[in-house]
Amino acid sequence: MRNIAVIGVGYVGLITGACFADLGNRVVCLDINEEKIEKLKRGIMPIYEPGLEELVERNVRAGRLSFTTSYAEAIRDAEFAFIAVGTPEGVDGEADLRYVQMAAESIADVLDHPVIIVNKSTVPVGTGDWVADIVRARRGNSVPFSVVSCPEFLREGSAISDFMHPDRVILGSLDREAAEKVAQLHLPLRTTLVITDLRTAEMIKYASNAFLATRISFINEIANICEAVGADVKEVATGMGYDKRIGHAFLDAGLGYGGSCFPKDVKALAHMAVIHGHQPQLLDAVMDINAAQRQQAVSKLRGLLGDLHGKTIGLLGLAFKPNTDDMREAPSVAIAQALLAAGAHVRAYDPVAIDNARRELPDVTMTTDPYTLAEGCDALVVVTEWNEFKQLDLARIRQTMRQPILLDGRNIYDPDMVHRLGFTYRGMGRGYHGEGNTTRTDAP
Ligand SMILES: NC(=O)c1ccc[n+]([C@@H]2O[C@H](COP(=O)([O-])OP(=O)(O)OC[C@H]3O[C@@H](n4cnc5c(N)ncnc54)[C@H](O)[C@@H]3O)[C@@H](O)[C@H]2O)c1
Repeated sequence: MRNIAVIGVGYVGLITGACFADLGNRVVCLDINEEKIEKLKRGIMPIYEPGLEELVERNVRAGRLSFTTSYAEAIRDAEFAFIAVGTPEGVDGEADLRYVQMAAESIADVLDHPVIIVNKSTVPVGTGDWVADIVRARRGNSVPFSVVSCPEFLREGSAISDFMHPDRVILGSLDREAAEKVAQLHLPLRTTLVITDLRTAEMIKYASNAFLATRISFINEIANICEAVGADVKEVATGMGYDKRIGHAFLDAGLGYGGSCFPKDVKALAHMAVIHGHQPQLLDAVMDINAAQRQQAVSKLRGLLGDLHGKTIGLLGLAFKPNTDDMREAPSVAIAQALLAAGAHVRAYDPVAIDNARRELPDVTMTTDPYTLAEGCDALVVVTEWNEFKQLDLARIRQTMRQPILLDGRNIYDPDMVHRLGFTYRGMGRGYHGEGNTTRTDAP
């Protein structure tokens, strides 16, 4: 059993704390947000994540997991202090490190025994050294400490399983012994441990996210070409994916990537490149394609409905992806805003993100279920591919819509089946189904 402090109880910190407690460690989770900590003390989760409530409850009951707003209390017995605070986008696209700085300063101010500071937040290359400088500036050499980078790769919606069964754990430090101590904590996960230097570990995280975002923009570009030439991107991606060098993951065409990581991390990597004198042409294209993809939904609706003024559009799904209530950089926000600006009435339904969405989209009418959503709509748009949308009674939905138009922004439906039900169907990159400029019988 090790004593661990986790700083920041967001998606990453709370999962990290609860999972390390479940592995038998004693964990104190700290946040400066008093409301979050109060709620956690009462067993109320500040975020939606499948399985989290049970995991937290079990470990609190076992006396291995507790919550505080006091750095003195969190650090008092800690051998490891994980920093898992937010690193949002700054004004010029850089990662905003103010919360990391505050966390490092606060740890330093109460530090009276050796500790390993483990950075889990996604941070620009060089931040680990900077954190060490911050602590040293406040404590001098009075207390020995080390900094280890341990970037997090979990995905919201499957965060617990991702933490417990990672593809690999990356550890970076100038202090090999400290990195190996952090490696020990991860041994129960029985996964590949990669130990490298601090800066390389920080770069692995950005390179990984940028690569996944690139795959999404790549397939979206292919989708747009598919529409133009009369091919079906879903089948193209399936066919590509069987190539072992390519694989199937992250080849789903749609409305582009969103969420709390890819948008800001690609921007931050591009920013880092520019300030070091490198023009990141590929990353720039990835971001441009992603921004354009969201507007595709609005252009397609215009193509189907003409002037959107006065039309009623229903959005199926608001969260940036299924199984989360996270609305950060969700495509639904850009789409709803563009539709509202065009004078449309926008209605929406999401299984868990409605409360968060209300704050961002006060002019959107939220509904309680997909069937109520569809009533009187001129078009429905699948924005988030929640499983429950895959099994909807579309025949029932069609009867209550003003116009039976279905824009499948995530390609979850079989176009032929939806056509048979009497809908006008549009997907993303499904040119084979008569959506593009050509049909299958056109000569090349
Ligand atoms: N969300 C993800 O899926 C994910 C995945 C991998 C990596 N990351 C990275 O992990 C980091 C955290 O992301 P998140 O989504 O958990 O963020 P979040 O916004 O959900 O949570 C951050 C938490 O840190 C707290 N905080 C801020 N300053 C603090 C301070 N000085 N002391 C204590 N607490 C403080 C906030 O109150 C908040 O509760 C980011 O760098 C992110 O890029 C996120």
